[in-house]
Amino acid sequence: MKLLYAHQHASSLRDPEGYWGEVAKKITWARPWTRVLDTSRPPFYRWFAGGELNTCYNALDRHVEAGRGGQVALIYDSPVTNTIGSWTYGELRDWVARFAGVLADLGVAKGDRVILYMPMVPDAVVAMLACARLGAIHSVVFGGFAANELAVRIDDCQPKVIVSASCGIEVNRIIAYKPLLDGAIALARHKPGACVILQRPQQKAEMVAGRDRDWDAEMQKAKSAPCTNVAATDPLYILYTSGTTGQPKGVVRDNGGHAVALCDSMKTIYDVEPGEVFWAASDVGWVVGHSYIVYAPLLAGCTTVLFEGKPVGTPDAGVFWRIIAQHKVKALFTAPTAFRAIRRDDPKGELIRKYDLSSFKTLFLAGERCDPPTLQWAQEMLKVPVIDHWWQTETGWSIVANCMGLQGDGGKPFPVKPGSPTKAAMGWDVQALAADGTEVKRGDIGALCCKLPLPPGTLPTLWNAEERFRKAYLDDFPGYYKTGDAGYIDEDGYVFVMTRVDDVINVAGHRLSTGAMEEVLAAHNDVAECAVIGVADEMKGQVPLGFLVLKAGVNRPHEEIVREVVALVRQRIGPVAFFKQAIVVKRLPKTRSGKILRATMQRIAENQEFKQPATIDDPAILGEIAESLQGAGYAREGLKVAAG
Ligand code: COA
Ligand code: AMP
Repeated sequence: MKLLYAHQHASSLRDPEGYWGEVAKKITWARPWTRVLDTSRPPFYRWFAGGELNTCYNALDRHVEAGRGGQVALIYDSPVTNTIGSWTYGELRDWVARFAGVLADLGVAKGDRVILYMPMVPDAVVAMLACARLGAIHSVVFGGFAANELAVRIDDCQPKVIVSASCGIEVNRIIAYKPLLDGAIALARHKPGACVILQRPQQKAEMVAGRDRDWDAEMQKAKSAPCTNVAATDPLYILYTSGTTGQPKGVVRDNGGHAVALCDSMKTIYDVEPGEVFWAASDVGWVVGHSYIVYAPLLAGCTTVLFEGKPVGTPDAGVFWRIIAQHKVKALFTAPTAFRAIRRDDPKGELIRKYDLSSFKTLFLAGERCDPPTLQWAQEMLKVPVIDHWWQTETGWSIVANCMGLQGDGGKPFPVKPGSPTKAAMGWDVQALAADGTEVKRGDIGALCCKLPLPPGTLPTLWNAEERFRKAYLDDFPGYYKTGDAGYIDEDGYVFVMTRVDDVINVAGHRLSTGAMEEVLAAHNDVAECAVIGVADEMKGQVPLGFLVLKAGVNRPHEEIVREVVALVRQRIGPVAFFKQAIVVKRLPKTRSGKILRATMQRIAENQEFKQPATIDDPAILGEIAESLQGAGYAREGLKVAAG
């Protein structure tokens, strides 16, 4: 019998200490907490203060000790290398303990940072858990980021060791990781003491004598390392995410609150029990990968799937169904963009019918707004509930979800309303606020904010940047966490997340900063001024589009300059930015105070109606912009200025 959402949610808000204190019994503690919630320093709150635990112990060892050692913990399915492997909880614990020994031999201890720059191989999961075992803090950097982005992260978190691999595989292209790593270390001011390199058979890397260690050779020599207990409030990891500037934000995750919230979410949100198979088709470089490939399923004693491939092209749009059937996956979690790609290649779902999907109960989508056509297509094709849920790197787990482990009305989950991830999850008090901090009327758009304290597992701060944390998230709406998203809440309490309010765009479920791209464009010799916006894209949700104003006297061919800036963004930020197009314009539309009207440019590019900004410097520029956009295939309908 499932518990009632209404009761559970109300009690999580009325008595957070009682609610989460009870949930925390799902975790094995080395020392109990003295306070469930430390409220002594608002607006900063800490969960399970005084408590001690080890996250790796909770993810692996305790399951082995409880008799689950023979159950498969991790399945690696890699169509790009034609490999399928699996490891039991016992085997994974031993592997992780041994690699923790490698790191310990290199001097890594509690509180030290370790950067992981890894493709989607099981060794990446092992390295993350090995850090957790030692009480060290990992920071995984997504493989699609360029050397410069890696260098910025190296300088910010100052790792003692970097763990990487010789290469990654993108469909049928080998990406050499090691030159990127070497380039990043050359660029960074901070130099790691050592790098441990996994030599993949597809391409071997050149090693730097004295600094680089071979993963396998080190494993041969190492002894297993035990778990080191840490404070519940000690950091487990740092994960960098895009902000409004080129300097990424280092989101900190603690050990105690994270273990409690994530372990609980497997049942409460995903309705997955110990021993069942859960698959998050994401990347360990993103928060979804941290939370739902690695930590949550293992904390809850489930089997997790690590997929090295793409939804299409590895080898076809049937790969998701093959994996679900072969590994008896109960729940799949991915981004809507993956479904748009599958639908494009297999619109009638013919490949779906080739497989026995009887194990499959629920599809979860997140990472970007779930457009209703994609939701409806997935519902029709799969005939299972399709559950959109909303969360962020900062929160680590869902803010709003249709909690499948609870009952809504009449013993069932809540009905799905297309375009809404449903209702606030446990411990979340979500409100749509006006600029003055008051709640807007139901149905009106406001800044989506969450009343403090946030539930456990959410970011307590930014790495070495408490002031930035306060400024970015807490100052604008005192007493609330500002999500950076705008949306509305309807009469039934369903939350609709509509758009970002800052310069963050979402490309194929990847969060990117247009500000960071502008910094790269502005560095080009011929560029006087620039702007980057995100424009709607059928497949990727949004794609970036650059606008360049050239310096006076530059008369080189525009295509040449555009090619150069495209290459520059790829080189500085990485292929993941998917920056493929820029337009040369005479001038940029601005307010009289000089602010570039990016939102207006976006509306023009997307053929949307817009209100002429009252403070615009020179309205004629909008016509010029529309003309330039038309030349590039956008703004086909010209200017659609709203009346009044
Ligand atoms: N290492 C190196 N390069 C990488 C990379 C990695 N780990 N990941 C992506 N890239 C490159 C790609 O090769 C591509 O380069 P290209 O422009 O030269 O072709 C570029 O970065 C963009 O990659 P991607 O966004 O993956 O686009 P795609 O066209 O290759 O694939 C999708 C499109 C929809 C299939 C893919 O984006 C996808 O699976 N998205 C799901 C996202 C997701 O899981 N998000 C997590 C939230 S749940
Ligand atoms: P990230 O930190 O990369 O997970 O990106 C978080 C951002 O992605 C959010 O702030 C939203 O803008 C967007 N997002 C994530 N999930 C959803 C969703 N279910 N609906 C709408 N937007 C989403």
